[in-house]
Amino acid sequence: MATLEFGRGGLVKVADTVKSKTKKPAAIYSEAQAATGQQIFMTNCAMCHGPDLAGVTGPALKGAKFASAKDQISVSDIFGIMSTQMPAGPAR
Ligand code: HEC
Repeated sequence: MATLEFGRGGLVKVADTVKSKTKKPAAIYSEAQAATGQQIFMTNCAMCHGPDLAGVTGPALKGAKFASAKDQISVSDIFGIMSTQMPAGPAR
C-alpha cells in the first residue's frame, strides 16, 4: 500500500492497527474445549438460560443486557456467580 512508503513507524503502525482490528481475534479456546463447554451448557444450563443463550427463566447470557457496563459486572463476578450459584436448581 502506498501509504506505507511514508511510514517511518507512524503510518505503518496505524495501518497495522487497522488491519488487526479487521482480523478475527485469535481464539482463546480450542474447538474441542468449546464443544465440551457447549455440551456441559446444554446439559446443565440451557433449560434456564436457553440453548441459544437468549434466556428462559434465567437471564440471557448474551446480548446488550448481559453484563452491560451499566451493571458494572466483571468477569470475576460472572465467574463467582457461576461457581457458587449455578446451576440454580436441581440440575446439578
Ligand atoms: C434452574 C435454573 C438455572 C440453571 C440450571 C442455571 N442458571 Fe444461571 N441463572 C439462573 C437465574 C434465575 C439467574 C439470575 C440470578 C440472580 O440474578 O440472582 C442466573 C444467573 C446466571 C448468571 C449471571 C447473569 C447475570 O446477568 O448476572 C450466569 C453467568 C449464569 N447464570 C450462568 C449459568 C451457567 C453457566 C449455568 C450452568 C452451569 C447456569 N447458569 C445454570 C438460573 C439458572
